[in-house]
Amino acid sequence: MSALDDEARAILATNDRGGYTVPTHGLYPYQWNWDSVFAAIGFAEHDMERAWVEIETLFSGQWENGMVPHIIFHQVDPSYFPGPDVWRGIGPLPSSGISQPPIAATFVRWLAEKDGAFAPRAEALIPRLMDWHRWFMTWRCERGAIVVTHPWETGRDNCPDWDGPFAAIEPEGVEQYYRRDTTHVIEEERPRRYDYDRYLYLVKLGAESGWDEAYLRQANPFRVADPTMTFTLLRSCRDLRAMAEEFGLETAEIDGWIKTMEEGAELLWNDDAATYDCYDLRAEKHTGVVSNASFLSWYAGVGGDRMMPHLERITGLEPFFIPSTDPEHEAYEPKRYWRGPVWAMMNMLIARGLADAGHGDWAGKITENTRAMIAGNGFAEYFDPRDGAPAGGRNFTWTAAVWLAWASATTGEKLWAA
Ligand code: GLC
Repeated sequence: MSALDDEARAILATNDRGGYTVPTHGLYPYQWNWDSVFAAIGFAEHDMERAWVEIETLFSGQWENGMVPHIIFHQVDPSYFPGPDVWRGIGPLPSSGISQPPIAATFVRWLAEKDGAFAPRAEALIPRLMDWHRWFMTWRCERGAIVVTHPWETGRDNCPDWDGPFAAIEPEGVEQYYRRDTTHVIEEERPRRYDYDRYLYLVKLGAESGWDEAYLRQANPFRVADPTMTFTLLRSCRDLRAMAEEFGLETAEIDGWIKTMEEGAELLWNDDAATYDCYDLRAEKHTGVVSNASFLSWYAGVGGDRMMPHLERITGLEPFFIPSTDPEHEAYEPKRYWRGPVWAMMNMLIARGLADAGHGDWAGKITENTRAMIAGNGFAEYFDPRDGAPAGGRNFTWTAAVWLAWASATTGEKLWAA
C-alpha cells in the first residue's frame, strides 16, 4: 500500500502549479473548484499549510456577488477549450461564469478539526463561504432546491439527467469551435458533439448577458434542480453553521438556509421511481435517473434510508460501484464519463454520508470496493464499473487525493470508513 501512497503524493506534487493544483496535466490545465477542495484534503495528509493555500487560492477568484467560479484561468493555456475569452467571467481573476458543487465548507471544517493550529485560517474563510452560500440561496434556490443553469455546474457534465432538458434546446448561433478534450482522451469516453453544442450555447447565453443572474433566471432554457448541488450545499451549510457557532458568530441566517433546503429537497424526490433525481423546472418534471448523486441524500442528512433499496440493488449489478448512472437505465454507458463510470471522489462523499447516518457497514463496503478499484487500476479520472478499467485522464488529482485522505488502508482516516 505504501508504494501507492507515494504515487498519490507524487501525483499531487506533479499537478501542483504553485498555490493551486490542476486536475490533470493536459486535459484540465486550470484550477477547478471542487477538484481543488479534494486536492486540499489530499495535501492535508502530509502538508497542512499547502492544503489551506489551495482553498485560499480558490477563494481569490470569488466574484463580488459571492459566486466562486468553477474554473479559474490563472495562466492561459491554449490546449483547453472553452477558455477565458469564451467565458468572459466578471470576477477579479479570469474565470468561467458558473459555479460547482459547494463542498468547500464541509472540508474547511474537516481541515480545521484535523489541526486546531489552523483554526484562524478557517475563521477567515467563513465570510467568504457565507457570501458564496448566500449567492446560491439568492439566485439559485427555487422551491427550496438548488438549480443549475449549465450542466457543468453540477460537475456531472453529460449525465442522462440532461437528455430531456437538452432535447428542448436548439443551439442556434454557436460559432464553429474546435474541441481540445478529444485530443487528450478517446471520444468514446467523452461527451458527444450534440452535448457540446448545447454546452457552448449556454455559455454564450450567459457570457452575452454579462452573467446577469436576474436575466438568466428568465431567459435560460436550462434550469434544473439538482441533487449534487442541493445536497452538497445543505451539508456545507450544516458544517458552516457548526464552525460559525464554534467561533461565536451569528447562525440565524444559516439556520434559515438549512430549513429551506430540508424542505426543498422534497422537490427532488421522484415518487414514481422512488429515488432522488433532478427536477426540470422548465418542463416541470423529474428526469427519472438514479445517479450517484442520488445517494448523497445521507451526506445531506435528508430522507432517512429512502435510497437504501436502490443502493442494495445497484451495488449488486456490477463488481465496482457506485456507477454514475443506474446500469439498468437505458442510457447507461459504462465508459462514457458521467453516463456510467465510477468516480472515486463521489464514493467518498456517499460513504461519508452513510457513515454519519450510522451505516458504517455500507461505508466500509464502499471504501473497500474503491480501494480495490484504485489499487488495481491506478489513479484514473473515472473507472468502468464492469471491470474497474481506468478511463478518461490519468494521474488524476482527486483520485490521488481521496486515496490519501480516505481509501488507502495506510493513510486513509478511520473517520471516513466507519
Ligand atoms: C469534468 C468533470 C468535473 C470536474 C472537471 C475537472 O468537467 O465532469 O466534475 O470538476 O472535469 O476535473
